[in-house]
Amino acid sequence: MTEEVGLFDVMYTCRAMRRLDSRPVPEDLLTKLIDAANQAPSGSNQQRARWIIVRDAGQRKRLAALNKKAVEAYIGPQSGRAGELPHQSAEKRQRMLDAVLWQAEHMQEIPALVIACFEFDGPVSAGEASRAGGSLWPGVQNLLLAARALGLGAALTTLGLSDRAASREVLGLPENMEAFGLIPVGYPLGKFGPVTRLPVAETMRWDRWSD
Ligand SMILES: Cc1cc2nc3c(=O)[nH]c(=O)nc-3n(C[C@H](O)[C@H](O)[C@H](O)COP(=O)(O)O)c2cc1C
Repeated sequence: MTEEVGLFDVMYTCRAMRRLDSRPVPEDLLTKLIDAANQAPSGSNQQRARWIIVRDAGQRKRLAALNKKAVEAYIGPQSGRAGELPHQSAEKRQRMLDAVLWQAEHMQEIPALVIACFEFDGPVSAGEASRAGGSLWPGVQNLLLAARALGLGAALTTLGLSDRAASREVLGLPENMEAFGLIPVGYPLGKFGPVTRLPVAETMRWDRWSD
């Protein structure tokens, strides 16, 4: 049964949920996530966000292989990944890394991989494409919040798309489409809990930044 969760509870507990069960997610719930994403704003209301829900086992395996390769590079000795941050202890970062590694091992078993894409008028270079993100990320966040509200786990990822040519080939993207995010969706193995974020006192000023 789906519990009803209030909007603010959803926002404050919408953690990146990477450990997911292999149990399939009903098609109507997956469609509902995309419908929620479609309600987001876009520049001039152009509505160019497009979504591919990858459920085919072979396709998931191909994307999982690309993600694994990128995760290995991300955690490798040359990666420059910070071991700790001012707002995130080494221990918390290690827990995140463990979840990233779990996801890298199991991505092919996760029932649905949602690819957030953008449709352009014509062929697009990687540089031009990045500017369109502002009209796509609000939809991605809507999708993540909708998943949380429905008791589904999801996490925004981008590493699996870093080999642009290979991921485009797997997804069969035409020249005028670009993939921005890969969001594995499934029933969570862990529990939802509060996100850890900076307090507003550190991220907000009234009227102007400096005195
Ligand atoms: C632009 C962007 C790219 C991200 N790429 C990845 C990724 O490739 N792999 C991954 O596991 N998480 C990725 N994340 C998720 C972040 O790691 C996550 O949102 C952040 O650590 C906060 O986690 P929390 O919501 O669980 O506190 C990405 C998030 C954003 C906004």
